[in-house]
Formats: sequence, C-alpha cells, structure tokens
Amino acid sequence: MKIELNNKKVIFNNNQNKIEIHPIWLRERVRDEQFLDKNNDQRLFDPSSLNNVNIESAKINNDTLELTFNDGVTSKFEINKLTSEFIDSENLSNTVKQKFWDSSLKSNPMYEFKENLFDSKDMYDLLKSFYEYGFVIIKNVPTQNNYIVNFANSIGSIRPTNFGEFFNVRSVPNPNDLAYTSLALSPHTDNPYRKPVPCIQLLHCIKNEVSGGFSTLVDGFKVATHLKENNPEYFEILTKIKVKFKFTDKNVVLENRGELIELDGQSNLKQIRFNTRLDYVPVLEKNRLDLYYKARKKISELYNSERFRIDFKLMPGDIMMMDNHRLLHGRTKYNSNEGKRFLQGCYINHDSSEGKLRHLKRKFDF
Ligand SMILES: [Fe+2]
Repeated sequence: MKIELNNKKVIFNNNQNKIEIHPIWLRERVRDEQFLDKNNDQRLFDPSSLNNVNIESAKINNDTLELTFNDGVTSKFEINKLTSEFIDSENLSNTVKQKFWDSSLKSNPMYEFKENLFDSKDMYDLLKSFYEYGFVIIKNVPTQNNYIVNFANSIGSIRPTNFGEFFNVRSVPNPNDLAYTSLALSPHTDNPYRKPVPCIQLLHCIKNEVSGGFSTLVDGFKVATHLKENNPEYFEILTKIKVKFKFTDKNVVLENRGELIELDGQSNLKQIRFNTRLDYVPVLEKNRLDLYYKARKKISELYNSERFRIDFKLMPGDIMMMDNHRLLHGRTKYNSNEGKRFLQGCYINHDSSEGKLRHLKRKFDF
C-alpha cells in the first residue's frame, strides 16, 4: 500500500489497483494550525465550502507528501496516516481478527485484576481478547460497594436500563424476569426488546456457594456460520425476517424488532438475537412461516447443543464480560437451599469498549 504521484495527481496504490485521490479529500485533511484544533482533532473550517480545489504542486520526501493547493495552502501529510484511511476499520478488523469457537475451545480468555488496570497494556490485551472471542473473564475484582459500577465506568460508561444502573441477579420471590430465580436459563441474548439492544454485559460474581449454577456461553457467530454452511435456506430466512421482541412488567412495555441473524451491508455477521420467551414473528404467508419455524427450531437446537456450548463456574471476584450482540449466555439450575448465588450485572455499549481499545492501541501499538 503506498502513495504515488502522477504529475499533479496523488495516487493510492494497494498493489491491485490504483485510484486517484480527490483533491478535496486531501485538502480537508490539512492539519495546519489555522485549519485544525490540535487539542481535539476537530476542523476549524467547514470543508463543504471547498470547491474547485486543485493541486498546484506535489512532491514526496520519504514518509511525507507535500502539496500546494490552488487556494494558496501548502501542507505536509504523513503518508502512513493517509494510507491507514484506506483500511476499513469499522469493525476493528485491523486490530482484532474474530475467532469463532465451539465447545472445543481449550481455555477461556482470562485476565487478573490489578491496580491501574484500565490504562495498562493488560487492558489493551484484554479488550483485544474480548473482540476475538466475544468474552473475557477478569479474576479477583474487588466485590465490595458495587465495584462493578466502577469497573464498567472505567472502560466506558454504564448503559442504565429500567433494571437500574446495575442489577442484582439472585433468586427472589415473584420475579419480573426468570433471571431472578434458581431455574436453568437456556442460551439467550439479553434485552432484544430494547432500542438499542445493550451491547456488552458484565456479570460480577459476588457469592457462589451452590453446586449448580454454572455459567454457559455459546458463540452465536459460530452457530450462524455453521447454519449458513449446512442449511443455507434457514440462514437466509433468519437474516430476512424482523421479529418483534417484547418485555412487559407493571411499570413499562418495551418493544423492538430485529432479525435473529442480522447482517451488515457487506453481508458480514453483525448481531444475533435469541430469546424464545419474548419473540413474536409477524404474520406472513404460511409457507414462509413454515420455513421460519423450521429455521428457528434448527438454530435453537444448535444453540442448545453441547457441541457449541461451554460451561464453567464463576467464582467470587470473577467478572464475565460478554458481547451480547455475538454470544448467547445462560446458566444451569441450582438449589438455593445449598447457599447463596449472587451476581451483579450491568451493560456498556460498544462505543465505550471500542473507543478504549482504539485509545490503547494508539498508546501501545504504534
Ligand atoms: Fe441474560
């Protein structure tokens, strides 16, 4: 990948094809003092007012491109900064390559809590692991004074919901959600009825005195990939139909719609939703719904099969941080007469964790 000159044209060459870079594209990236506030990287002018921009002269010296534009502005550009913009970084694919996994996953990505974790190289590695696997476990996090709130706010900022800034997961009488019982929970994604759906869930184990109550995780992207390969017509319909999800209690009615497998504009996996206690497919032609119900049954079997599931016991101090847009989570049942099982949970959004990851990459990886 390099920048070349052809007379007064600036050419981006990625070894396969060459494209001319538009003069306005370059002119709006001029970083000189009068055009850009160095403290925040924000422009001090409106680039939409630029027109008829031309390059009067261009030269390359080592890693620097020097241009003079027809409005009299001369500026130097770092070539590697320009070329980095030609790599799509929307889903952090430059920093992290996702690794889809099933029950053969050898060991859980695990990190130890320490003082000054949040701005450390360990945090950079932790977040990279998180985006590789869709989850990480952090051991020995302080359990006093709802420390989960400090932890989450040190990565980004908590996303409050009608369950509060954080929620306590333990069995209670007359719960408004099955999470607050000792029943087994089959693999599901959280809160598909919210707009937007919370991105990341943190669960902090405060007490776990029971013999059951294992946490379970499934990589939804692995299962979706398996479905695409083996039952493409099922995959197809699950990526097309927007299903309504609904939550009701005495204070609120929440609703949102989305595909069980959502793809992005390039047909990459973007988000999975699965919560068969709360889903309502719209009325469609019978043969289309026939296919949908077969597809949902199939993906439910895959999500619930041992082939794709890992389970493990969270110990006091453990925080499990998981991507609610990629992974499904659940738990095995437990007997509340054996002792206490007490977890605290909260949500943060991807812009928190991605922003932190980009910041730490800037700090440790350049
Ligand atoms: Fe859940």
